[in-house]
Amino acid sequence: MKQNLINIDNFLKKFNLNRQYLRKNGIQIETNENTYFPKEELESGWLMNLYSEFSKKKQEHIDSMAIVGIGAGVESLLFIEMFKLNKLYCLDINKGVLDVAYNNVTNNLNEDVNISLVTKYSDLLDYLISNSIKVNIIYENLPNLRLSNNLQIERGLTTASFYSEANKKENIDIPAMYDSCMLRLHYRFLLQAKECLLPGGKVICCIGARIPISIIKNMFNDLGYKFTLLRIGVVEQLSAEEVLATYSDLEDRSKNKFLFFTHNKSKVKAILEQYHSESDIKVFFDSLFGLGISATQALAIVQAGKRVDHLGLIIEGELL
Ligand SMILES: C[S@@+](CC[C@H](N)C(=O)[O-])C[C@H]1O[C@@H](n2cnc3c(N)ncnc32)[C@H](O)[C@@H]1O
Repeated sequence: MKQNLINIDNFLKKFNLNRQYLRKNGIQIETNENTYFPKEELESGWLMNLYSEFSKKKQEHIDSMAIVGIGAGVESLLFIEMFKLNKLYCLDINKGVLDVAYNNVTNNLNEDVNISLVTKYSDLLDYLISNSIKVNIIYENLPNLRLSNNLQIERGLTTASFYSEANKKENIDIPAMYDSCMLRLHYRFLLQAKECLLPGGKVICCIGARIPISIIKNMFNDLGYKFTLLRIGVVEQLSAEEVLATYSDLEDRSKNKFLFFTHNKSKVKAILEQYHSESDIKVFFDSLFGLGISATQALAIVQAGKRVDHLGLIIEGELL
């Protein structure tokens, strides 16, 4: 177990939050080998984008929320402060993160904060469904790649990039297009979320996109959601060798090419800055595609000691 002290003053200032729920002084976060904990990203980087999007919802009445894939619990704390939540369900399939996340949340809240915090083992939203629980917002930041037989879910940070689907038999037919684009877990999540949202409720999905965005949009629409792309950015590929080897292998076995970029490519950043809510997603994506490299090329770059990026999307889905 490792202790981390995070300074979130900048974060609170940026989003005009006043530590009503969070304890004074920095927050103390314990991590173990199972908890995904991107410390640097908290103060700048991609997570800030996520919180910026959430902060725009501060005026909406958000009483209850569920997070699927909880990491060390930092996001849970920030959402509690941002929305003054009454109920929060923290769900994860990795038993190794549940107690750590629960303690991190409760230890950093003021003693008089009255919140119902439920931290449960759950394959996606199974826990909410089997207890007929509905919430205002469900947030997911789930991996795209399925664990192969020789990787274990308990094997530390690989769980940030790989998922396991418990041991149950599934009766869900996932369209081949979404399956081959590694969207299987997101598809199952969206399908389940329909049963777990209160009227007017929304899902917020963080999806690492290495395929055309129009395919992801179609998946939301096919499942009955209005798709809104809140944010698009480049994110460094973490666990790069393992992840790229898997995507490269998929490229060898199918016609699919996945999309990566050399790290910090300025032309990509310049195009991303032009994105706005009226942009045609297909045209926009096509303009990025020419700047990209395949997984196999990206793997060679990483093996030569360099870094690569991929697209990260923050998507809002609202039931039609
Ligand atoms: C990228 S991490 C999420 C990190 C967290 N949101 C954060 O930023 O700190 C992905 C998480 O999804 C969890 N996960 C993977 N498959 C899952 C499933 N089928 N059901 C629930 N959680 C799952 C992993 O155990 C892991 O904790």
